[in-house]
Amino acid sequence: MAINIPKQWLPRIKVLVHLTALYPLINLYYSAIQDQLGGDPVEAVIHFTGIGALNLLVIGLLLTPVARRFQMGFLIQFRRMIGLYAFVYALCHMLNFLFFEVQLNLQLFVDEVFERPYITVGMTAFLLLIALAATSTKKLRQKMKGRWQTLHNFIYLVVLLVVIHFYWSVKSDIVEPLTYVTLFFILMAFRYKKLRRWGDKLFSRL
Ligand code: HEM
Repeated sequence: MAINIPKQWLPRIKVLVHLTALYPLINLYYSAIQDQLGGDPVEAVIHFTGIGALNLLVIGLLLTPVARRFQMGFLIQFRRMIGLYAFVYALCHMLNFLFFEVQLNLQLFVDEVFERPYITVGMTAFLLLIALAATSTKKLRQKMKGRWQTLHNFIYLVVLLVVIHFYWSVKSDIVEPLTYVTLFFILMAFRYKKLRRWGDKLFSRL
């Protein structure tokens, strides 16, 4: 049974999504300015924006299987918006690191990116996310045709890299990163047929 909503609700839901994504970010920096983030505010902002970006990536990947399973086609309209907010959170996360952790020391930033494997992996995910955000417009989608879908399939690799980045970044408690590893495999299981097709294609070329 298809679940539909009246068309006039869509703009209101969009406003709600904007507010839900923006409010926590504004509140985070407001709390930082008010000195309300506890003993290690730099760690707090890096943690919050990193987890925020990852949660939005996961929600973005959940939309398609949920829309298919419950025939809620309207959900697909929110994919781009959620993906772009994931990018905004990831950008803040990277900028927090650049401004507050390495204090705008570009040489140190580059050293960290190349010398700490978990940051190398995070940076790779971030660069891929830039490419996806920059090509997410309707115009480019039409212009790039099949190549657009091929490029945007890299979102699976982005999420995999972020999950590895998270797992690698923690020093002791691995429960939270392992939860995201599990979530990643569940999201990929929904795409089993697609992944299998790619695998078959790849092996037939070898
Ligand atoms: C798509 C891009 C990225 C996402 C979604 C992401 C996500 C995350 C997540 C979920 C965490 C764990 C949060 C925690 O437990 O504190 C984390 C930690 C961290 N990330 Fe990222 N990250 C990304 C890219 C980057 C980049 C580009 C950098 C730096 C250049 C970076 C630097 C860090 C640092 C310093 C930590 C904290 C590690 C610690 O607790 O010591 N991340 N990231």
